[in-house]
Amino acid sequence: MLLPTGALVLEPTADGSMTLFSEDFGEWFHSRQGAYTEAKATYVETTDLPTLALAPTLRVLDVCYGLGYNTAAALTAVAQVNPTCQVRLIALELDPRVPRQAVEADLIGGWPAPVQDCLRELAATGQATRPGLNATLLWGDARQRIQQVEALGFQADVIFFDPFSPPHCPELWTVEFFQRVAACLHPQGRLATYSCAAAVRAALRLAGLAIGPMNAAGRRWPGTLAQVSPGGLAPLSLQEQEHLLTRAAIPYRDPTLKDTAAAIRQRRQREQAGSDLVPTSRWRKRWLPPHEKNPAAR
Ligand SMILES: C[S@@+](CC[C@H](N)C(=O)[O-])C[C@H]1O[C@@H](n2cnc3c(N)ncnc32)[C@H](O)[C@@H]1O
Repeated sequence: MLLPTGALVLEPTADGSMTLFSEDFGEWFHSRQGAYTEAKATYVETTDLPTLALAPTLRVLDVCYGLGYNTAAALTAVAQVNPTCQVRLIALELDPRVPRQAVEADLIGGWPAPVQDCLRELAATGQATRPGLNATLLWGDARQRIQQVEALGFQADVIFFDPFSPPHCPELWTVEFFQRVAACLHPQGRLATYSCAAAVRAALRLAGLAIGPMNAAGRRWPGTLAQVSPGGLAPLSLQEQEHLLTRAAIPYRDPTLKDTAAAIRQRRQREQAGSDLVPTSRWRKRWLPPHEKNPAAR
């Protein structure tokens, strides 16, 4: 996979924290309602990480580290609730420019000083080790790096799953990638993502995970919480269940974990064109007011 080379444009968000816009992916890195808020609310609170951090150890997998905000929010929460917790964190990121720009432009200045130090070390060397923390940032395509994580036998208590949206980055929302990610999730662990796209939820199920809705800060639609067993998950509403019966629920596939985004999109379009499932337009007509955007995209 080619490294992105397009501009990364700074953009303020509503809570005062900064995000970036990626020219390559045509998308912002965070909800424009608040980047720090999203990290804390959508990833740390929904996974109940502060409670999990009361245990002696905590394993976190941050898929798409980006500016490091989700990692920062996690480390901040652990320091608040249980500074003696031993944290093992693995993060995956394709583009080394992103965490470095976050450091150089001081976008991380709102996190506590010890957390900023970790983010600086991770951006510079890919490793931050200190008493209570062993953090590794693995550079490269997450589709390959996840196989390394799996080979380590890593079993995450919490997975932050935060790629660009499925239409813009389909390669990280496929059944095959979720299978590898699910293999790195502890049987009692939780995966959180901002997406409620039917294709994403269907792929999570096909990867063997149970799913439920969760609050996604600054977004109009709920996110998704996924676990090995369904205990404790909120039920999907009728609207969400019916969404999963439409063509929007045909998942992205990438059998070799090496296809281009265009090939993955085309494969899904072909499958949708030949499908007997209900057209998504029928579901939209039943559930969404006219002119409402389709949540399938996010
Ligand atoms: C929405 S942003 C993540 C934001 C991040 N969680 C944060 O808190 O700043 C998506 C990230 O995925 C990265 N990315 C895109 N394709 C990737 C791939 N194939 N493997 C790993 N990372 C990828 C992008 O470089 C970008 O940093």
